[in-house]
Amino acid sequence: MRLQAILCILLQLIFEHSSCTHLRAISGSTLELPCLSFQTDFNGAAITWKFNGKDIDAQSSGSVRVKKDGLHLYISPVTAASEGEYVCLVKEDNMEMIRMYNITVAASTGYTIKVTEGSKVHLPCHFPPGIQVVANALWFKETDVGQRTRVNPEDDSTDYFNRLELLYPLDRDQTILLQDIVMEDSGIYHCESADGEKLSTLYITVEAAPTPVPHSCAGFTTAWEPCQDVNSRTGEPVLQESMAEFSMKLYSYLRESYPSSNLLFSPISISGVLSHLLLGARDDTRKAIERAVCVPHDFHCVHFQMKKLREKLASSLQIASQIYYNPQMNPSESFTNQSIQFYEAEPTRLLETSEENVQMINSWVANKTKNKITQLVDSIPPSTQLILLNAVSFSGQWKAKFDMKPKKGHFTKLNGDLVKVPILYQQRYMAAMAQVVELKAQVARFALSGDSSLYILLPRSNDVTELQQVEEKMTDTAVRQMIEQMKTTATQHIEVTLPQIKLDVQPDMNILIKKLGLSSLFEGANLCGLYSEDKVVLDDARHRAFLALTVDGVEAGAVSSLSFSRSYLSFSAMRPFILLLWSDQANVPLFIGRVTDP
Ligand SMILES: *[C@@H]1O[C@H](CO)[C@@H](O)[C@H](O)[C@H]1NC(C)=O
Ligand SMILES: *[C@@H]1O[C@H](CO)[C@@H](O)[C@H](O)[C@H]1NC(C)=O
Ligand SMILES: *[C@@H]1O[C@H](CO)[C@@H](O)[C@H](O)[C@H]1NC(C)=O
Repeated sequence: MRLQAILCILLQLIFEHSSCTHLRAISGSTLELPCLSFQTDFNGAAITWKFNGKDIDAQSSGSVRVKKDGLHLYISPVTAASEGEYVCLVKEDNMEMIRMYNITVAASTGYTIKVTEGSKVHLPCHFPPGIQVVANALWFKETDVGQRTRVNPEDDSTDYFNRLELLYPLDRDQTILLQDIVMEDSGIYHCESADGEKLSTLYITVEAAPTPVPHSCAGFTTAWEPCQDVNSRTGEPVLQESMAEFSMKLYSYLRESYPSSNLLFSPISISGVLSHLLLGARDDTRKAIERAVCVPHDFHCVHFQMKKLREKLASSLQIASQIYYNPQMNPSESFTNQSIQFYEAEPTRLLETSEENVQMINSWVANKTKNKITQLVDSIPPSTQLILLNAVSFSGQWKAKFDMKPKKGHFTKLNGDLVKVPILYQQRYMAAMAQVVELKAQVARFALSGDSSLYILLPRSNDVTELQQVEEKMTDTAVRQMIEQMKTTATQHIEVTLPQIKLDVQPDMNILIKKLGLSSLFEGANLCGLYSEDKVVLDDARHRAFLALTVDGVEAGAVSSLSFSRSYLSFSAMRPFILLLWSDQANVPLFIGRVTDP
C-alpha cells in the first residue's frame, strides 16, 4: 500500500508538480478541492493548505474549511474574496508533493440552484428595465471550459425538447421552466439576449430524489386563529398598506407582460380571492400566500379586516365571494363556518355536468358584477375539486357633470397614430389637477359619488418611454403620497376631455400567480384548513375586468377565480411490464412474469 502510494506520488509529481488547475466558480456555490487526484491514506503525512501564500488553519471557520483528513478543502459559499491561488502541500519522509488551484469567481449575476432529480426548476433571466423586448433570450449550457451548446425549447433533436418551457415569451422576464430534471442537467447555464448581452448565469446542482412523503394534514387542520383585538386601530392601516403594496406589485408584473396594450385589473378582487384561499391554507402555502398578498405572517386579523373593508365599501363597490366544490370532497366545518363569517360564502356543491357548472358559475358572475361580465369560464373538467371566486361591481356617478351632447375627438396612440373616439367634454369642470414631480405626470382627480375618485395620470407625451417612466415610478409609497397630495389640492375650473373608454381585459392570471411567487400552488397546495383528505393542485386561475367611462360616471366590474383539482401520485401499468409475485412471509419469489399483450 505504502509502496504503491509512493509510486503514485512519483508519477503525480512529474505530472502535477508544475501543473495548476484553473477553476471558475460561481459566487454562492460550493467548491471541494481534493489535494490528490487518487484515493489513498496518508497516515503520518503532513498536509498543509495555503491560500495566496498564507497557511489555512485546519480549524478555520468561515467560508474556507479543511476537511478532517486534510486531503480536501471546502469553500462554501464561494465569494469574490475566495479568488486566488490554493496550494496543497504533502510532506512524507523525503517526499514532497504540491497541488495548485487557481480559482476565479464569476460575476454575481450568477445564481446557484439546488434541485432534486425528477423535479422542475425555474431558471430566472430578466432583461434590464426600460428595454423593449423584440426577441426572446437565448440559453446555453457550458459543456467544457469555453465550450457550450444551445439549450433551445424548440429544438426537438435535443433531450431538452418537451422538458423546457419559456414561460413568458417576449416579456422582460425570460424565465424558463425545466421539468423532469435528470442528473445530467447539472452544470452552468447562461442566458443572453439575441445580440449577445449576458443576462444571467446559473449554476445548477442536481441531487438524488428523496422518497416521496405521503400526503398528510396531521397538525394542520385547526381553524384560522381568531383575531384577538377586533377593535384594534392598527388592523385597518395594516390592510391598507398591504393592499397598496400588493396592487402596485401586480401592476408592475402586468406591465412587464403587457408593455403597450390596454391593461385593466382589479387588485381588490385578486386579493379577495387569494385571501379567501389563505383562510384554508396552512404551513408553506399559507406563508407563500401571505407574502404574495403582502400581509405580515402574524396578522391574524386579515380575514376580519377584509370583512370590515367589504362592509365599508358596500355603498360603492360590492364584493362577493363564492366556493364551489366537488361533491366527493367535504370542506371542513371550521372552514365553512369561517368562510361564511368572513367572506359570506357558503361552500356550494358543483353540479353533474360541465354545461350545468359553466351555466351556474357564469350566472353567479353575471349577477355579482351586475351583468358587466357575463362569461368567465367555458368548461369545468370533471377532475375539478374546488373553485374559489371573487367578484366586484363598482358604480360611481361624476360629482360634476359632463356635457351630455355626444362629441368626438382624436386620441394619439403610442405609435403616433390618431383614432377618432367618442369623448366626455366639459369646458369648465370642477376638478383637482397637479403636476406630480415624483411620478413625472400630470394628475387630475375626478370626484365620484360614494366617496371615490378617479385619478388620471398623464405622462408628458404619447411616447412609450414617457409612459414607462411614469410606470416605473409608481411604487406604493409614491402612489399613496400622490393620493394625499391630490386630496389636499383645491379644485378649480378646468377644461376636461376624456375618451369614453370601455375596457374589457383578461390578463393572464396563471402568469400572475407565478410572478407572485405562488408557482407551488400548481404543484400541490397545503389547503389542510379547508380539506384534509387529498392533495389539491391549482389548474387554472382567471381574471377578467371591465371598466367604462360614461356621461354619468364610472361603471366597473371584475372577477377572479382559482380552480383546483385533486393531485394523485399516479402509477399506470398500461404498457408492457414485468411482475413478481413474492411471498413477503417467506421472502421468496412465487411467480414471475411479463405482460406485453394483456
Ligand atoms: C490565475 O489566473 C488569473 C486569471 O487567469 C491570472 O491572472 C493569474 O496570474 C493566475 N495565477 C496563477 C498563480 O496562475
Ligand atoms: C360551525 O357552526 C355551527 C353553527 O353555528 C356550529 O354548531 C359548529 O359548532 C361550528 N363548527 C365549528 C368547527 O366551528
Ligand atoms: C342577482 O340575484 C339576486 C338573487 O337571486 C336577484 O335578486 C338580483 O336581482 C340579481 N341581480 C342581477 C343583476 O341579476
